[in-house]
Amino acid sequence: LAPQDLAGRKILVTLGPTREFWDPVRFWSNPSTGRMGAAVATAAWLRGAQVHVVQGPCPAWLPPGIQVDSVTSAQEMYERSLSLWPSMDMACLTAAVCDFRPHNQRQQKFKKEAGEQGLDIAFAPNPDILQTLGSRKTPQQRLIGFAAETSDAIQSIAEEKLRRKQLDLILANRIDRTDAGFASATNHVVAVDAHGRHEQWPLMDKGDIAWRIWDWILAM
Ligand code: C5P
Repeated sequence: LAPQDLAGRKILVTLGPTREFWDPVRFWSNPSTGRMGAAVATAAWLRGAQVHVVQGPCPAWLPPGIQVDSVTSAQEMYERSLSLWPSMDMACLTAAVCDFRPHNQRQQKFKKEAGEQGLDIAFAPNPDILQTLGSRKTPQQRLIGFAAETSDAIQSIAEEKLRRKQLDLILANRIDRTDAGFASATNHVVAVDAHGRHEQWPLMDKGDIAWRIWDWILAM
């Protein structure tokens, strides 16, 4: 049996992509599979936590003991996560939320003949779920975020996001490598916490990363 060191804690995990529909059959999204989030949620559940997942459209497997709310758009994920947050002790937001959504969502399917000359779509920004939870965090709550980057300045970007979004811990990873990021079984992360501690973790299985995240939070 796993150590029950998260027993009694209520933990929110967001995972997967979001879909931003433009008309009834077309959407904007990203290749997130929810794999990192499913590992985080499962590790917390194995360690005794009461886990609540808000899941975007993806085939991630979760143990039946975890409560799952399925959502589609960033706006739905935002509303569900915000309503759960006051009753949670911790949240780990792993979802690859679309930062933008098509400005107008059409009720009817757009006919391709109407776009023969090409197509311009205007986008509007989506709310930042993590930043909003951070701004509503009580001193007892713990908040963990991720940062997917394609730049070498990964640690300074992570430190800036940790401060701006009022996080306790952030895990930053490069998504421009084949052994890390979207869909892979492994990930290569830099962990930075609110006490100024930081660590570069070796290439690890996402399950091991999840386990280590909870070790870190419990040690803080
Ligand atoms: O700012 P950036 O998108 O890199 O932040 C990534 C982190 O913020 C992830 O933990 C992600 O789940 C979360 N996020 C969010 N809502 C958004 C965008 C990102 O919760 N609209």
